[in-house]
Amino acid sequence: MENVIVSERKPSIEEYIYLRNSIGWRVLQHDKIEKGLNNSIYCVCIEDQDKIIGFGRIVGDGGTVFYIQDIIVIPSYQKQKIGTLIMEKIMDYIDKNCIDGAIIGLIANNGLDNFYKKFDFTYNQNNWFYRFNA
Ligand SMILES: CC(C)(COP(=O)(O)OP(=O)(O)OC[C@H]1O[C@@H](n2cnc3c(N)ncnc32)[C@H](O)[C@@H]1OP(=O)(O)O)[C@@H](O)C(=O)NCCC(=O)NCCS
Repeated sequence: MENVIVSERKPSIEEYIYLRNSIGWRVLQHDKIEKGLNNSIYCVCIEDQDKIIGFGRIVGDGGTVFYIQDIIVIPSYQKQKIGTLIMEKIMDYIDKNCIDGAIIGLIANNGLDNFYKKFDFTYNQNNWFYRFNA
C-alpha cells in the first residue's frame, strides 16, 4: 500500500492496546505491557496519516533465540500487503542480526501457514506446545 510510513520504534502502550483491541486480542495490565515492549528486541510500526495501523515485534534473548510476536494489521487495512511489509522488516532485522543456527520461531494462528511460509518458515505440527496462563 502506498503512502504508509514504516517506523522502527516501540508503539506507545495506548497504540499497542488499540491494535490488540482492533482484532479482539486480550489486553493485559499496562505495566506488564510496558515491560514487555521495553524488553522487545525489535519493533516496527506502520502508520497512515499519523495513525498506527500495523505492528510487529521480535522477542527473545538477542543472541541465539528470536521469536516473532504480535503481527497485527487493523481490520480496515488488512489484505493490502501491510502484514507482508511488517514481516519483510522483521526478516530484514533477522537477516542482519542473527547468526547461522539461531532459532527463529513463531506461533501462527490457524489458517496463516501460507502467510508465514513465504518467509521460509516450516510448519512443525508435532513439537509446538504453548499455553496461556489462566
Ligand atoms: C495476519 C495479518 C497480519 C495479515 O496481514 P495482511 O496485511 O492482511 O496480509 P497481506 O495482505 O500482507 O497478505 C499476505 C498473504 O497472506 C495471506 N493472508 C493474509 N491474511 C490471511 C488470513 N487471515 N488467512 C489466510 N491467508 C491470509 C494473503 O491472502 C496474502 O496471500 P497472497 O500473497 O497469496 O495474496 C492480519 O490479517 C492480522 O492482523 N490478523 C489478525 C492478527 C493475527 O492473526 N496475526 C497473526 C498472528 S500469528
